[in-house]
Amino acid sequence: MSAARTEDRTAGAEDRTVRVALLGCGTVGSQVVRLLREHADDLAARSGARLDLVGIAVRDTAADREPWVPRELLSDDAQGLVRRADVVIELVGGIEPARTLVLAALGAGASVVTGNKALLAAHGPELHAAAEASGADLYYEAAVAGAVPVVYALRESMAGDNVTAVLGIVNGTTNFILDEMATRGLGFDEALALAQELGYAEADPTADVDGHDAAAKAAILASLAFHTRVGIDDVPVAGIRSVTAQDMAEARDAGYVIKLLAVARRVGDDGARGISVRVHPALLPATHPLAAVRGAFNAVVVESEAAGRLMFYGQGAGGAPTASAVMGDVVAAAAHRVGGGNAPRESVYAQLPLLAPEQTPARTQVQLLLADQPGTLAAVAGIYGANGVSIESVRQSRPAEGESQARITIVSHEANEAALARTVEQLAEEPRVREVLSVMRVEGE
Ligand code: NDP
Ligand code: HSE
Repeated sequence: MSAARTEDRTAGAEDRTVRVALLGCGTVGSQVVRLLREHADDLAARSGARLDLVGIAVRDTAADREPWVPRELLSDDAQGLVRRADVVIELVGGIEPARTLVLAALGAGASVVTGNKALLAAHGPELHAAAEASGADLYYEAAVAGAVPVVYALRESMAGDNVTAVLGIVNGTTNFILDEMATRGLGFDEALALAQELGYAEADPTADVDGHDAAAKAAILASLAFHTRVGIDDVPVAGIRSVTAQDMAEARDAGYVIKLLAVARRVGDDGARGISVRVHPALLPATHPLAAVRGAFNAVVVESEAAGRLMFYGQGAGGAPTASAVMGDVVAAAAHRVGGGNAPRESVYAQLPLLAPEQTPARTQVQLLLADQPGTLAAVAGIYGANGVSIESVRQSRPAEGESQARITIVSHEANEAALARTVEQLAEEPRVREVLSVMRVEGE
């Protein structure tokens, strides 16, 4: 690019500076430094001010860093750095010291950009209140689905519509594992080992495979979608450890795929108006748009009254994709510093109740091992009927030669969760039911 064009684009920005402090220089932070340096002129033109990186807080200032990270900016004094900035980018992760640092930044009037879903899902109200009190911005696009701009979509683009449901594949590690199990027939342990080898899963994969990372993201999405405070403790969660290669194969044969879903729904007006938020593995019809999300990709489907169905898709993790989301927020926060204005404030005016299971509709697939003798199926159907749960389909696989047990798969129509749970309890007690093999929710149309 010629010098003349560069000057043209950054005209006016040269005499204004926004001081940026970066907390954390790991997978995402190091890519933020790269984008800040490589795109300095464009970022100045878009923000209306030069973004001056005043320091980078890390734990170990002596550790090796990417070659573009200026060593002279490294510091182990994160608190001191926060006091010298107009915009603080928090990419440390976890609760402490991130919470204290973010509150210090907001308290001092600096805007904060963070990718920290765990912090937001546990302490969101406190952070939003601190931003409002000081007039600073709080941005967090990178906290849900990495590069995919779903926070902006819910917080700003859809502010004029009424969202009815959000369904998301918001954890790339588990989607990769389930995809390997589905397409290559790997068992869970084998697929997890591969995810670790390829750098998707951490050495301690608990937050991903047990669903806690997805639950934090579900809480953030539900809060935005329904203008209601939802925290991580409000989200019932089941991970993917119990999903087997056989579950995968049977799902495929029945026209489904199994995905770990974050599901948030607004439920009816019949005296039970409220929201249901949860994370669990679910069967999705192979024709559903989320069924096509492969590998470590993320996608979120938003359903709303006026817009209908929208889908957001892309890379939900990784240094550069996540840094892209962070930098979008930094440009917006810097532009507000220069030209005035604010990020939208926390919107929780609706405060819809979080519904108990008995008020929440669900469909389930139950797999049973049965005594293969007259009357067994009638007994099973009777238990469904007695609990007011209507059966949508029943499949029975032919018993092996000489085998006296039959395997059947029952998919219910929508019923409340409490009735479904009672049905499963009573099935387990029925003597002709040898074993309840699995219970899984069915989502999507
Ligand atoms: P990393 O673990 O790679 O980096 C963390 C950084 O924080 C390191 O530079 C570390 O310093 C620094 N740090 C840790 N503790 C302290 C402390 N007490 N004081 C100062 N610095 C500290 O994390 P990621 O880059 O992967 O993630 C950052 C955030 O982004 C997290 O909230 C994460 O959830 C979120 N995120 C990450 C994604 C990803 O793909 N990685 C995707 C979406 C969001 P040192 O280098 O010296 O150890
Ligand atoms: N570990 C997460 C994932 C990325 O696998 O999607 C950070 O949220």
